[in-house]
Amino acid sequence: MVAKTLALFITCAIFYCHGAASLEDLTIRQVTDDRLSNLLGTHTETKFRVFMSDYGKSYSTREEYVHRLGIFAKNVLKAAEHQMLDPTAVHGVTRFSDLTEEEFTRMYTGVVGVVDVGGRRGGTVGAEAPMVEVEGLPTDFDWREKGAVTEVKDQGACGSCWAFSTTGAVEGAHFVSTGELVSLSEQQLVDCDKACDPKDKKACDDGCGGGLMTNAYEYLKEAGGLEEEKSYPYTGKRGHCKFDPNKVAVKVVNFTNIPLDEDQITANLVQHGPLAVGLNAVFMQTYIGGVSCPLICSKKKINHGVLLVGYGSKGFSILRLGNKPYWIIKNSWGKKWGDGGYYKLCRGHDMCGINSMVSAVVTQVSS
Ligand SMILES: *[C@@H]1O[C@H](CO)[C@@H](O)[C@H](O)[C@H]1NC(C)=O
Repeated sequence: MVAKTLALFITCAIFYCHGAASLEDLTIRQVTDDRLSNLLGTHTETKFRVFMSDYGKSYSTREEYVHRLGIFAKNVLKAAEHQMLDPTAVHGVTRFSDLTEEEFTRMYTGVVGVVDVGGRRGGTVGAEAPMVEVEGLPTDFDWREKGAVTEVKDQGACGSCWAFSTTGAVEGAHFVSTGELVSLSEQQLVDCDKACDPKDKKACDDGCGGGLMTNAYEYLKEAGGLEEEKSYPYTGKRGHCKFDPNKVAVKVVNFTNIPLDEDQITANLVQHGPLAVGLNAVFMQTYIGGVSCPLICSKKKINHGVLLVGYGSKGFSILRLGNKPYWIIKNSWGKKWGDGGYYKLCRGHDMCGINSMVSAVVTQVSS
């Protein structure tokens, strides 16, 4: 239960702020960076009111309001800290700004049971992908332009990222083999997939409680495949399994784990379609745009499953600290989050563990 331990570790590093007494002290003065003054300059409660109205938030009691205001104040400071640690991205107030890091990780991420397999992370199932040719790869590549990627989805307050990462990879592989883009069902995985890693019986797929993409492929190989989104729509809650094998739209026949090598990841992405990846989501709680390239981001604390859809050679850099090559990552927090629902993460440094949990899936049309 590596992820559980990590979540605890993260929680312990957070100070809870009960009551509004010291909020004024939290306002940092003498900030030279404009963006920092934008973040911290005005009164926190005013900012909180704007946040509440922007995101349609309401709190049922005065206590809850004050509690959330305290957390918000901490998160404004955290965004400022992230801005300093990650100058090529923009950090600020997001829909998660009234959540503690523990709440955020529990409700909006959802990769659990991360097993270390000789540096590569994830489940112990699945073969290692064969080495592929890396010469002559394009300098820029984006599966969205080719029509292989469905609209950004929203997992809601449910730790089901692993299901969205899995469907994204299956949708992509199906597109690459057939030229047809079909949106597939996360709810089927949330309700029906209880697969466990054979070497770690605690690393099980558990609906809104988290899971692993490699376990999900194993489940899909056995179950027969995935239904379409429209035949088994997303509710964001674990329910009874309503999977109907007659409604399978895409079959999963095999999957592979990609080696910890950014050239191999790139070649597999171009060849096989979007890839399911795990990463450490700590900077995503405050991310607004730009290329995220934090000075410190643990490669080991992988807690979120997302979809690698492309890469660019010259990322737009706010501070003009140089053009950063980046990965284009599809997230499952809706279109209003980040860069139209996407995250740009700098490429070439195993940033936030992005190289360590990458998988590709092989599909077959259901007849
Ligand atoms: C699955 O993929 C691996 C790696 O490419 C390969 O060795 C294996 O034979 C494949 N299994 C099936 C059933 O196709």
